[in-house]
Formats: sequence, C-alpha cells, structure tokens
Amino acid sequence: MEQITEHICRYKNYNFFVDMTTAEYIDSLQSFEIRDSDVFLVTYLKSGTIWTQEIIISICELSGGLPEYSNNFEQMPWLEYNNGQDYALRPSPRLLCSHLPPNLMPLALKDKKAKIIYVMRNPKDNMVSYFHFSREYNRFDTPESFDLFFEQYLSGNVGGSSWFDHIRAWLSVKDQYNILYLTYEDMILDLTGAVRKICSFLGKNLSEADIQKVVEKATFKNMKKDPKANYEFIPEIRGNFMRKGQIGDWKNFLTAEQSERVDRLLQEKLGDLSLNFIWE
Ligand code: A3P
Repeated sequence: MEQITEHICRYKNYNFFVDMTTAEYIDSLQSFEIRDSDVFLVTYLKSGTIWTQEIIISICELSGGLPEYSNNFEQMPWLEYNNGQDYALRPSPRLLCSHLPPNLMPLALKDKKAKIIYVMRNPKDNMVSYFHFSREYNRFDTPESFDLFFEQYLSGNVGGSSWFDHIRAWLSVKDQYNILYLTYEDMILDLTGAVRKICSFLGKNLSEADIQKVVEKATFKNMKKDPKANYEFIPEIRGNFMRKGQIGDWKNFLTAEQSERVDRLLQEKLGDLSLNFIWE
C-alpha cells in the first residue's frame, strides 16, 4: 500500500485508511468463501451505513435470532478491516458491511446466492456528512476548511476514493450480483417502506408488529441513544455518527457555485445512469 496522506493509503486504485487493513488481506478477500445466507451491506461511506446496519440486524434478530454480540460493529463487521477474525468460524447468517468497490469484493459473490444491499446518498449531503465526520474521527485526515474538503471530495482524494466512481461501479454490476439498491433519501421519506423492502429482499416474513419494532428502533432519535447502535463505543470518534440525519443540510454549507459544480459533474460523470436524487 502506498501512503499518500497522513491517514490514507492507496492500493489497487482505491484509498484505504491507514492501519485498518493490509494489501495481503485485501487480496485474500478475492477467495473469501461465501455462504448462501451471507448478507452484505455496501455503501460509499457516510451514506447511511450504520442506519441500514441497524435495520438489517433488527430484522434478522426478530426473524429467527442472531448470536448476541456487544454492539452492531461486532455483530456486522466491515469485511475489509483486518481485525484478525476468522469469518469461517462465524455462525450463519453472517452479516457484513463494506465500503469496497465491486472489483475488490469476494469473487464468489457473483454466484448470486448471497445478498448485497447497496445504499447511496445524494453527493451534496454525503460530502457535508463526510466533512463533519472527518473533523471528529482521529483516523481520518482533518480537513482545514469545507472549501478544501469540497475539492478533495470531488477529485476522489479522500478515503473511499471517488463517490462518483463508487456509484458508477456498483450500479454497473446489477446483473452480476443478487443486489438491492436503496437510497438514504427514500429511507428518510419512508422508513417503513424501506424496512419492508429489506425484509422482502432478505426473504424474512415479519409480522406488522415486528416491522414497526424495527422502524421504531431505527429512528434517528432512538438510534442516537442506543449504545449498541450509535458507535459511541468507538473511542477515537469525538462526536457522533448520529449528527443530523436529514436531507438538505448541504444548503447550509455549499455555495450556489459549488452546488452547480456538483450538478454539472453529476451530469458529466453519471448522467447516462438517469439517477434521480432527492435534494431536500
Ligand atoms: P449526517 O452526518 O448527515 O447526520 P454512515 O453510517 O454511512 O457513516 O452515515 C452517517 C450518516 O447517516 C450521518 O448523516 C448520520 O446522522 C446518518 N444516520 C445514522 N443513523 C440515522 C438514522 N437512524 N436516521 C437518519 N439518519 C441517520
């Protein structure tokens, strides 16, 4: 891995966070053994990962149970972080998160038996969330200003590389995987609908009362005070994963000019995908 900033290193065209993984480990994921019951949640970071993670965990808990872990990070770890775990020893169903692009994911996922849920968020809110989080997490480069971060984000010089590349890569492989696409904005506008979609995709038949339990647990207010779900258990995070939880906070940070630049880039880079992001 080639270190390119204090906290970012590059491998196979993707920006990882320093000390969280190794080139050997990332290579080993290509032959990671997949079980039919595996569920992967994939996102570009700051797109609603821990929110969807909470929903998936609750659904699986209510529909047949899961082994008990101390928090959601232990329950549904990130595939790419080399934490010394042997996933072959984990009982099914294994739940895993990832921010990786498709080319670095286990090859056997293409057998389409395991399930992938891909969540995306509009890039303006995504970058604002990322900017704030970078100032609160010791493992990320601290941006000097929003304007500088804006440039780094647009050029992909951040951990996780380019948002545009991630979206294009994952939307281009829909025929190769068993994959459900969701947006953060749809989840905000209709959380119950999103929970139902996830249940149906996972093949879990929850009662109406259980669906409402999942929804209640996953509201911003309730997740914020849930020590298993709010990531306050990670000491290097000074603030909170649960910052605002809204659509449209970008209006408080992007100038009209910056907003237009994002619109233009979106058109240039992803225009052919006919994406319809909700901005407010
Ligand atoms: P903001 O910084 O805009 O508030 P990730 O988990 O991928 O890092 O994404 C974090 C973003 O998801 C943060 O956005 C966080 O507040 C938001 N989020 C987390 N849980 C949420 C919930 N229950 N409802 C709405 N947004 C949530």
